[in-house]
Amino acid sequence: KEISNREEKEKVAEKIASMVTDNDIIGVGSGSTAYLALLKIAERIRNEQLHIRAIPTSQEIKMACAKLGIPLTSLLEHKPNWTFDGADEIDFSHNMIKGRGGAMFKEKLLISSSPRTFIIADSSKMVSKLGSRFPVPVEIFPDALVHVDQALQSLSPVEIKLRMAQGKDGPVITENGNLILDVRFDNIPDNLENAIKSITGVIESGLFMHYEVLILSSEEL
Ligand code: A5P
Repeated sequence: KEISNREEKEKVAEKIASMVTDNDIIGVGSGSTAYLALLKIAERIRNEQLHIRAIPTSQEIKMACAKLGIPLTSLLEHKPNWTFDGADEIDFSHNMIKGRGGAMFKEKLLISSSPRTFIIADSSKMVSKLGSRFPVPVEIFPDALVHVDQALQSLSPVEIKLRMAQGKDGPVITENGNLILDVRFDNIPDNLENAIKSITGVIESGLFMHYEVLILSSEEL
């Protein structure tokens, strides 16, 4: 299963790399699928001497770009021509859960700033019901923990867990210095993203309802 997922990811990564044109400013999402696409883009840059600049969504991708010799820029300097990113779950209406890697705030910012976004996914990401595997990650200002936790209770979650770090004691601290609550829901109604966002202390959630994204699923290629 792992091997076939890898092959599927390679296929969508290849497709993304084929869409790059010279002088593009590209928003680069995070996760293993986005990373594979970045590797293939770097290959094209080398072979065809393309001039590409990347706006990374995480420290990990920033370091990968530096290592691959892909020049970086930021949203303060440039608007991306397009963005690509992965996802954790995608339903039939193309609503998504993202943020397994904790980068959902910057990912949402880039997707919202881009005229076009391609979501690349292997078949394991397609679900009939959003939330069936992944919780909804919610990035919160640390001092707002108690307040946000209480306010989230009114949205009928099944479980709320503070995301804990691996390789360090204590909670995950995001790149923005915040905490993440992983919130499981039995049902994810259309207004849930806005309801979560309206709680004071919430920076952003990994719920993407009705975003104009193009899904490049390995099943369709
Ligand atoms: C990162 O915060 C997530 O939103 C990623 O887009 C997601 O976890 C996809 O990662 P994989 O491509 O490794 O599944």
